[in-house]
Amino acid sequence: MTFPVRIVEVGPRDGLQNEKSIIATAAKIELINRLSQTGLRSIEATSFVSPSWVPQLADAAEVFSAIERKPGVSYPVLVPNEKGYERALAVGAQEVAVFTAASEAFNRKNINAGIDESIERFRPVLERARADGVRVRGYVSTVLGCPYQGEVPLADVVRVASRLHALGCYEISLGDTIGVGTPHKARAMLKAVASEVPLPALAVHFHDTYGQALANILACLEEGVAVIDSAVSGTGGCPYAKGASGNVASEDVVYLLHGLGMETGVDLARLSETGLWLSALLGRDTGSKVSRALAAT
Ligand code: HMG
Ligand code: MG
Repeated sequence: MTFPVRIVEVGPRDGLQNEKSIIATAAKIELINRLSQTGLRSIEATSFVSPSWVPQLADAAEVFSAIERKPGVSYPVLVPNEKGYERALAVGAQEVAVFTAASEAFNRKNINAGIDESIERFRPVLERARADGVRVRGYVSTVLGCPYQGEVPLADVVRVASRLHALGCYEISLGDTIGVGTPHKARAMLKAVASEVPLPALAVHFHDTYGQALANILACLEEGVAVIDSAVSGTGGCPYAKGASGNVASEDVVYLLHGLGMETGVDLARLSETGLWLSALLGRDTGSKVSRALAAT
């Protein structure tokens, strides 16, 4: 069955990367295995970045090797360079994601490279991935604002997204890294990018710092976007983006979509149970309003 909207669950990666205390490898594996039973079709599993930059995900290879990969579900992993690609390939990754930003300042803080330099680093990754039959997703961060630069010109977002697409990324995820966007700006940004990159190749990735993520998603759905990134229990944030808080909660996105009559194939009750299990593990309340409401009924 095909569904009109695909959710890319980023909880095991974006959700956990910013957690201060190290989470047990077994718990990360259990999180992914639980998510695999919810009907999600894309689950970003971990990151093959430098362990000194993101210590929380230093166990990427152990996690990826141990998860039960469900047929029909893809498990992309983040790779910042060829070294990350090799580590991912060694454990059998079939999809990777490269990441850069529309803001020069953020990119330097996050991956120690300018935008052009980072794209040059991705070139060999994409060439090798093409030869290896590995799919590559691309992220553009800071599409609606940068913690260091402030305003980010739309033209920069369009330029970086089109370069990643031209390089061979099958999908470009547009990230409001610090969650400052509002619906009209989100829609204008998506429209601008869609003038250069086909809309079916675009995804949106909203952090919910200012509580605007669901409104932004609705505006982008109305514009025709069909791929949405979110994290179970609303976890997440980038350690190199000051002020970034959690991603929009997957449970809330699923509730919104189902309410709009858009089937996702995701079992909301199971997803919500997984979110509550994760928030108990992290020792705090779930960041999903839908889960809180469901738990209270
Ligand atoms: P660098 O220090 O410039 O790297 O970091 P380098 O190439 O000079 O290498 C330094 C050392 O790191 C070397 O080791 C390398 O081998 C090692 P040494 O010789 O000193 O022992 N190294 C690696 N080790 C393991 N795996 C690798 C790797 N690469 C180099 N892949 C680098 C540059 C890109 C590596 C670093 O800046 C980095 O890892 N950054 C990642 C930061 C990150 O993960 N941020 C969060 C993800 S992005 C995000 O959250 C936004 C997103 O959600 C969308 C949105 O919300 O907008 C995607
Ligand atoms: Mg993010």
